Amino acid sequence: ARLSVRDALGARSTNGERVKVQGWIRSVRSQKEVLFLHINDGSSLESLQVVADSSFDSRELAFGSSVEVQGQLVKSPSKKQNVELKAEKIEIVGNCDAKDSGFVHIHTPIITSNDCEGAGELFQVEPSSKIKVPEENFFNVPAFLTVSGQLHLEVMSGAFTQVFTFGPTFRAENSQSRRHLAEFYMVEAEISFVESLQDLMQVMEGLFKTATMMVLSNCTEDVELCHKFIAPGQKDRLEHMLKNNFLIISYTEAVEILKQASQNFTFTPEWGVDLHTEHEKYLVKHCGNIPVFVINYPLALKPFYMRDNEDGPQHTVAAVDLLVPGVGELFGGSLREERYHFLEQRLARSGLTEAYQWYLDLRRFGSVPHGGFGMGFERYLQCILGIDNIKDVIPFPRFTHSCVL
Ligand code: 4AD
Ligand code: MG
Repeated sequence: ARLSVRDALGARSTNGERVKVQGWIRSVRSQKEVLFLHINDGSSLESLQVVADSSFDSRELAFGSSVEVQGQLVKSPSKKQNVELKAEKIEIVGNCDAKDSGFVHIHTPIITSNDCEGAGELFQVEPSSKIKVPEENFFNVPAFLTVSGQLHLEVMSGAFTQVFTFGPTFRAENSQSRRHLAEFYMVEAEISFVESLQDLMQVMEGLFKTATMMVLSNCTEDVELCHKFIAPGQKDRLEHMLKNNFLIISYTEAVEILKQASQNFTFTPEWGVDLHTEHEKYLVKHCGNIPVFVINYPLALKPFYMRDNEDGPQHTVAAVDLLVPGVGELFGGSLREERYHFLEQRLARSGLTEAYQWYLDLRRFGSVPHGGFGMGFERYLQCILGIDNIKDVIPFPRFTHSCVL
């Protein structure tokens, strides 16, 4: 018989009944003679212990992989649980090797002279007026709090291939919204030799799913507490996101979908105009509350570094945003323009040629196709905990008119 984890755990007869249980591996412990797995399918808070002899290949049985286990339900010798499943056959349904893919952690600087996003939302850094600096300007160039570590990661991905950073970022945008802060944390990754958005999206989906499964299994009680008091039903919504493949639509398709529903919006959806939060939330609902990648945005809306798709007349770049239920945009990323002449022209058009000579040099010497993304960490917490306002996921939120304490 096929049993859910919940039913298996609650089984009364444990006299070696033959059952089949499907789920995801939440932990693996391998000893000399035996292998212990904990699997869960979302039907229960508790996971089911599976005991296998060590002839099963434990490299295949990794955290996050989905499995089908056939075996006998027996009484567990351990006090921790009543029953356990003695495995006779373990089949991998989908393996999960997205976890530790050899990304090198880089500490990117907080003070920088670049405006990576080109949106001019910068906080300028200057010595306090009491400090006497011999030169008129401390750094010789205007310096700012970073909006993104991306450009520094691009430098380092040219040495280590796959790199990431996790640190504070700052934006002086008018942030009176439920999903904007003036100071927030971002997880950013940059990968050399990535040639398609498909490859990039796979890493993004893997990061979201692996991180979420780890949070659910390592911080179960905290997450449950949040869900119980703040967002009942959120666990089911999360399992729904984890179980399904994320969807992909183009910006152009997204605008078509939104136009069909334009009576619902304050802002009229139109090709060439950025998606508003209300549009993003609608798209996610439209996609059955499964996270959705929106790709290929208009070139005119995006920063200088995004790769030109050379299409037309609706000219787009290889950009990708991941929209999630309740929040809207959670990740922003793109393939980077690695072709010297294309980049040179884009920089010239933005009046940035002089300041970005070092960036152009990366394309002059050993350039490779590459891409990357950033995920807003507070928005991620909003998404998994089901918290409506970003100001409620951190103790000292910074936003316009708010920096006491
Ligand atoms: O889409 P953004 O602006 O992308 C970048 O900064 C790229 N340079 C990242 C990269 O490719 N390495 O920001 C990335 C994410 C957004 O999707 C959002 O989740 C979050 O950062 N974010 C904010 N979170 C809170 N408050 C704000 N004001 C945010 N602005 C962006
Ligand atoms: Mg963005």
